[in-house]
Amino acid sequence: MILQWLESSALGHLMRDTGPWTYAIVNLAHLLGIAALFGTVLLLDLRMLGLWRRLPLVTLTTIGAPLAGAGFMLAVTSGLGLLSANASDYVGNPFMLIKFPAIALGAANAVIMQRTAAWRALPHRQTTRAEDRTLAVLAAISLASWLTAVTAGRMVGYW
Ligand code: HEM
Repeated sequence: MILQWLESSALGHLMRDTGPWTYAIVNLAHLLGIAALFGTVLLLDLRMLGLWRRLPLVTLTTIGAPLAGAGFMLAVTSGLGLLSANASDYVGNPFMLIKFPAIALGAANAVIMQRTAAWRALPHRQTTRAEDRTLAVLAAISLASWLTAVTAGRMVGYW
């Protein structure tokens, strides 16, 4: 099974055999990645859902998309480290089964959003009402999936 393989991998040994600070520092990196990802996504999604309409959306997406992407990469790499430290402990944890599909949905939704005509129009022209509606629907899916991922991620430890 993949969890047992992860636990006995070189990464698993590194996480366990290099002292207690390793897990603590990787956990901190995970939290910083989540903060960058979720904080940015929250701002972008709320703007697309209709808040702060006078703020140009392209200003937020230009700085927000790379920041959220970097946060996501940091959360994924540090998350793999945390998981491999004690992977078999998570067998049967239902919150893991909620968290990973939510992350997959959030990431797929972000890729789809960036491929829409609405997103691509942002640096060039005013978006139409129909395009604004498309972005609002995708923003609602985004908010729901990342909120689920963060909540399930936190709940994992309480199972
Ligand atoms: C492949 C990617 C990821 C993996 C393998 C992973 C794995 C883990 C693991 C093993 C833990 C420790 C659970 C525990 O024992 O308490 C954790 C904590 C957590 N993860 Fe992830 N994670 C990933 C990505 C993410 C993402 C993208 C988010 C948020 C959007 C997230 C949110 C959280 C939260 C909120 C915690 C609790 C942190 C704490 O209270 O210290 N994770 N993750």
